[in-house]
Amino acid sequence: MQRKGIILAGGKGTRLRPLTNSVSKPLLPVYDKPMIYYPLTVLMQAGIREIAIITTPEDQQLFQRLLGDGSQWGIRLEWIVQPTADGIAQAYLLAEDFLDGAPSALALGDNLFLGDSMSPHLVAANAALSGGTIFTCEVSDPERYGVAAFAGDRVTGIVEKPSKPPSNSAITGLYFLDADAPSRARAVKPSERGEFEIVTLLQSYLEEGALSVQRLDAGIEWFDAGTHDALLEAGQAVQRFQRSGELFGSPDGAAFCHGWNAGATVENALHQLGKTSYGAMLGAMVRKDACLPEALPM
Ligand code: DAU
Repeated sequence: MQRKGIILAGGKGTRLRPLTNSVSKPLLPVYDKPMIYYPLTVLMQAGIREIAIITTPEDQQLFQRLLGDGSQWGIRLEWIVQPTADGIAQAYLLAEDFLDGAPSALALGDNLFLGDSMSPHLVAANAALSGGTIFTCEVSDPERYGVAAFAGDRVTGIVEKPSKPPSNSAITGLYFLDADAPSRARAVKPSERGEFEIVTLLQSYLEEGALSVQRLDAGIEWFDAGTHDALLEAGQAVQRFQRSGELFGSPDGAAFCHGWNAGATVENALHQLGKTSYGAMLGAMVRKDACLPEALPM
């Protein structure tokens, strides 16, 4: 069964107020694109064409106005509401009918992965149909994130926002899990802060030796754009990466490289983007047929 994607784009974005008083966090700009374009592109790079987007009830329409039904990129988008932000693991319960027994890749709406070497990680994770795969990244402030403990290369534990982190390896917001994820999520009890924690779900895989960890190398820059500084740094990183003329976080580009969108829809996108730098880079990519290695069909 083909893996399906989920983007968790709900929550109140309280750490980004007042920016998020009237705009949902994943709709905020990261340099030249809305934030949600980046996790969407990662899922598309992994070869995923059916994706559910989970939003708050009040924000769903705005996301729909931006992304439509996905047909312009040759993908199918489904829309799911999360009434209250009760935890990341709840995404698997909300998306259970959509997944319908398929393995999944869940991306948090505020996570960005920049760099050319993401593709092999996505290919490997996509190929693993049983168990789960998470991705870790070395950071200087691990207490802000879920953190993995290692014995050599083997993961021995995972813990959410520890005051004494067992390592500097942050667990990023991209989780490839097998078809059991919804039934395992049902067994997750709310934590002390009242949330269905993703680390508790991952722990159930870890305890059975069914969790693989891919450690992202220094060639990949990862951002959780959930604070003002991180949002700015992510935007600056996209600007820096794109100075070479390569476009990052572009569903138009990913669809083009996979051959998923008909020529007419690329032309339509180019027409709508007009003389923007995004449009210029996409146009150059299409004319030169210059797909990034990371966006090549898998
Ligand atoms: O970014 C990676 C980190 O993301 C991981 O290292 C942590 O293990 C994981 O818990 C998460 O930590 P955050 O503190 O960043 O989680 P936050 O509550 O900010 O939620 C992440 C995104 O998911 C955010 O954009 C809002 C959305 N969300 C979150 C929850 C809890 C929802 O849409 N619904 C929810 O119920």
